This record gives sequence, structure tokens and C-alpha cells, in this order.
Amino acid sequence: MRPFPILSLVVAFAQTAAAQQAVTSPDGRTIVTVEANNGGLFYRVDRDRKPLLMPSRLGFALQGAPPIRDGLRITGSTPASHDETWTQPWGEVSKVRDYHNEIAVAVEESSAPNRRFTLRVRAFNDGIGFRYELPEQPGLGEFTITDELTEFAFVENPKAWFIPSNRPRKDRTEMLYSAGPMSLIQVAQTPLTLETPGGTYVVLHEANLVDYAKMNLQGGAMEGKTLRAALAPMADGTKVHGKTPFVTPWRTIQIADRAIDLAPSVLGLNLNPPSVIPSTEWIKPMKYVGIWWGMHINTMTWASGPKHGATTANTKKYIDFAAANGLGGVLVEGWNIGWDGDWIQNREAFSFTKSYPDYDLPAIAAYAKSKGVKLIVHNETSGGIQNYERQLDSAYTLYRSLGLDAIKSGYVTDQTTEGHDHWSQFMVRHYRKVIETAAKYNIMLDVHEPVTDAGERRTYPNMMSREGARGQEYNAWSGDGGNPPEHEAILFFTRLLAGPMDFTPGIFDILLKSTGKARQDWEPRVRTTLAKQLALYVVLYSPLQMAADLPENYANQPAFQFIRDVAVDWDTTRVLAGQIGDYVAVARRERGGNTWFLGAITDEERRTITVPLSFLTPGKSYVAEIYADGPGADWRTNPFPLDITKKTVTSASSLRIGLAPGGGQAIRIRQVR
Ligand code: NOJ
Ligand code: CA
Repeated sequence: MRPFPILSLVVAFAQTAAAQQAVTSPDGRTIVTVEANNGGLFYRVDRDRKPLLMPSRLGFALQGAPPIRDGLRITGSTPASHDETWTQPWGEVSKVRDYHNEIAVAVEESSAPNRRFTLRVRAFNDGIGFRYELPEQPGLGEFTITDELTEFAFVENPKAWFIPSNRPRKDRTEMLYSAGPMSLIQVAQTPLTLETPGGTYVVLHEANLVDYAKMNLQGGAMEGKTLRAALAPMADGTKVHGKTPFVTPWRTIQIADRAIDLAPSVLGLNLNPPSVIPSTEWIKPMKYVGIWWGMHINTMTWASGPKHGATTANTKKYIDFAAANGLGGVLVEGWNIGWDGDWIQNREAFSFTKSYPDYDLPAIAAYAKSKGVKLIVHNETSGGIQNYERQLDSAYTLYRSLGLDAIKSGYVTDQTTEGHDHWSQFMVRHYRKVIETAAKYNIMLDVHEPVTDAGERRTYPNMMSREGARGQEYNAWSGDGGNPPEHEAILFFTRLLAGPMDFTPGIFDILLKSTGKARQDWEPRVRTTLAKQLALYVVLYSPLQMAADLPENYANQPAFQFIRDVAVDWDTTRVLAGQIGDYVAVARRERGGNTWFLGAITDEERRTITVPLSFLTPGKSYVAEIYADGPGADWRTNPFPLDITKKTVTSASSLRIGLAPGGGQAIRIRQVR
């Protein structure tokens, strides 16, 4: 669907040159000033007339050429304004307002080779974005960036919620977050969420990452109060190969007064180009089940043999289960040749078209179709990029011929076969190629071990969900015992600000009895209550939402009704209460309907949150179906007690939401008249 411009205003004035240029957000609260000082180029950010970021350097270090850093002067600037509301084909909210003021600052070296670039800055009410634009010019053709010099210089040391980025190895997003002074950061990933001593929330990230390296942030400078862009490297240590004309991704600085105002985050979406997919009718959010958890808890295998999960008979059972419960899809992992032996070593040997003999792909595809269920095809590359790219067309042609239009891909590796970093320009190009190829074949994507979301879903709405954080799988096998109870209350305010996450909630067998083995306290298990597993469907947004447990674990479970009922596509999202890492309560109204869903989660602390239901339509009556932690519920000692009750409510009601330690609450609020 094309975005629908309600009002679009672009005003351009004659170019003006001055050592200092500024742009103000529409609400007047944020001012970005770009200035040339002693030959260096800097930007600074003021919020409510107080400095938020001090003068922060801009520029590049290049291979075989002097850096673009010194002897710079501002030669002109062009202002513009824009106000447009566009509609997402699916999302956390249906309508997004892109309301900003812009300034394009022309910069040039004062002496030869007189290289030029434009710094384009956009100031929104919810933050700012800026990027470098390098036009075609005699002094700059092909180039290699060895470092981007962009800085984020804070006035005082903020508090940070961060995961490290220990390049060159273990450049993984699947880590637990730390909280502490920003000055502790060596290299951190984005989105990086910060709280300044003045109580302003700031999130550093990027948008429209197309042909560049992912940006990490390096600490240490200016007593740890300044972060610097640290681009992910290719095997030879260089960062970006380019040729003018060239634009970088946007560097984004989201700003909010309260943590609960950070979500839903649309800054990055507004900085990506509109959809290029002419008709998005085929792109549909859905819930799904999968031949998946069995492998993680070791009762099934990806590889062939007696425990092979992806058999024709087993898959038909899952399809029947999905059809009987109104779940849209079935994911099947381990269906294709390549899983025998060490599947990371064998990464150049995966076939994406040939199935194991006990998996009859055409018959299963036909069976799924007859039941109105989508088969989600699994493509684990293990980082064998060339192997996957070689097969992209033949594989996608096969899937389309069988009517299959959803893929879950995977990249379990730290580096590619060629030694490139997981988030290098090489990988960014690969991920983009897959998105574009999938769009050509009308295929939806759910990417595991992805490059972090930078808002690609606006341009390619077939790029639906990704992992890119520590998900439920860690509760099956992690050496540290699984995700701690605070984990999801951090994810909501950090990773999820970048975009949807395929966290895979809904494990009911919290103590992993299905493994058939007695387990010790320190062994991995789910560290939540049952009610919290339900709440995650509302709290952790994904347009592809898994019912992750084995179907047999949902049998005779009244709690499963909530998973059947919960929506996966939203018109409106309201964050009602929350503190990073402590708790959060979110209400969302389903797309095209009147039903609201409310999810609340807490960390290891017991809490009661009171939430007014003023978001409901006044004058209407609703029934709230409440799935709450029952008496004695506690993630550690007794995760199962669940109270399911009904209550009549209106927009004048408030709900007292009691959360057990490690607990949660999930509510469906249905209009009755
Ligand atoms: C890691 C993914 O996160 C998980 O979902 C998948 O099952 C395995 N890799 C195998 O591809
Ligand atoms: Ca993973």
C-alpha cells in the first residue's frame, strides 16, 4: 500500500552560508546546531534550552586518502519542512506521522582536494536523524572508509542499558543486558538506551542501513561521556567500500521525557523510504507453531535419524493442530539436507531445495494448503552466504511453485566463511539482497541472527520479524540457566525499539518436564510464571508470533485460550506504565476491531500496578477476560497458578494488576455493546 500523504509541506529557501546552522523540532523543544570550528565540523543538541549533546565531531577516516575531518567550512544550507501521515500495511500502530523540520548543510574542504558533502539533519518531536551525503565530484570517486568519526558527546555521564559488541568475534546480539554508567561501555550495540542525570531518555541507533556497515558505539573518550561510531569490519579490517554519489544510513537520536514514551518508536521508520512493494495484500501477520522447541530441548533432532522432527507424519500433526486452533502457520526446521554432522562446519553444504527422504515437501505443502495453514520454510545458512546466495533463485522458485510464501532464515555464526563480521557491509548487502529477492517472489521473512533492524520494513514490508536478541531458546539450553526475570522488561525498552522481535513466547512446560529428565535448580528452565508467558504476546511485539511449546503441552490448558484469541496486528499501542528492567504494561487495540489486549510483566519483584482504562471508547461496555498470576505464584517456587476471571469494565474503570515475582498478566478486553 502506498503511504497516503495528508499534508505535505516542503519549503526551500535560498542557500545561506554561515559558520553555524540550526534546525528546530516542530514543538520547539529540540535544536540541532551544526558548526564549523577550527576546521572541524560538529553538531550539538539542545533540549528545552539546555545542552543534551555537546559539540560532537563529524567526518570520516579513509584508506589511502586524507581523512574528511580537517579544514572544513560550511558553504550553505537549505531548510525544509514536512508533515505527512502514512499508513503501515501492518505494525504496532497503523498510522505514523512524519512531522519534521530539516536542514541540509553544505560542507567543503577549504583546500585541495576540496571534497564536499552535505549533512542532512531532521528534527522531529521524538528525536533527530542526520546523515552524510557525498555527491559525485572530481576529488572523491571510489573510497574506502576505515572509520566513521561521528561522535555523541554527552554533557554528563548517562545511565546505559547495553550489550557489548566484542569485535571481531562473538559479535552477537544474543546477550544479557547490563545497566550502569555509560562510561563503563567499551563497545556497545545499538539501539543503546540511555537516561541522562537530568532524567531525559535518549536512544542512539540508525535508520535506512542499505549499503554500509552496522554502527556499534565505542566508549572511553572524554571520561566516558563521549561515544564514537565503531563500524563493523570486513575481513580485511576496512569498514565500507563506496563510490560517489553515496549516502550513509541516518544516525538517530530518539529523545523522550519518560521511558514509557520511547515505545512505539517510529523515528527510524520515518527515516526509511516508503514501500516499494506495489501490493502488500499477500503480506499477513500470523501466529504459528513449529517443529522447533523439541530440537531445543533435545527430544527431537534437526538431523536425520530416529528422533528426526521434520517427518511428514509429524508435520501433518502440527498442521492439524494449527488448523484446529486458528493459528496461521507451521514452521518446520530440519527438513532439508545439510543438518547431519556439524552444521556450522558444513555450512557451505546446506541444500535449500532437497528434503530428507522422510519429509515429503510437495505432499506437505498441499496438505497445509488444504487446511488453510501456511508452511513456514526454514533456511538455516550457518553463515554460508555464498552457498545461500547461489540457491536463492532456485529455492524461492520451488517454494513459490508449492504456494509457500514465508521463510524463517538463520545465520548462527560469528563470522562468515570469508571472515567478515556478522554486521559488516558484506552482510548488510547480503541481508538486503535476500529481502529484495524475497519481495520479488512475494515471500515474507523472519530472520534469525539478523543484522539489527534499521526500519527496513517500511520500504520492504515483507521483512516482518527478526530475532536479534536473546530469545526464549536460551531457556532450553543456556549454560547460565536461562533468561533472568528482568530480561523482557529490558528488551521492551532496548532492542524492541528497533523493531519487532520473534521472541517465541508461550512455553507452558516451564520446568521442561517434556525433556523426561529430572532437573537441578541451576539448569536451564523458563524463569517466568505461566501468566507472564501469555503477557509476552502483547508486550513483545511481532507480526509473526509463535506458540512456541510442543502442541501436547497446550492440551487441556485453559491458558491456551489467550494465545488463540490474541491479535498480532495493531491499530493503536499505548504504554501505560513501566520502568526499564523493572516492569511494563502495554495496551494495544487490534487492527480493524474494537478489542484491546493488555499485557503487563514484572521482573523478580512482586508488584501491583493500577491502570486506568481511559483508552477504551467512552459510553461502551466491555468484558475483560483476565489471566492473572494465581495464589502463591512465583517464578522460582511455583510458576503455574493462574486465575482466569471476567469483569465488566468501561473507560471509567481502573484495573489493579497484581504481578507475582517473575509474573505477568494478560487481558483481553472485548466490547459488548
Ligand atoms: C538459532 C535460531 O534462533 C533458532 O530459532 C533455530 O532453531 C536454530 N538457530 C537453528 O537454525
Ligand atoms: Ca538465535
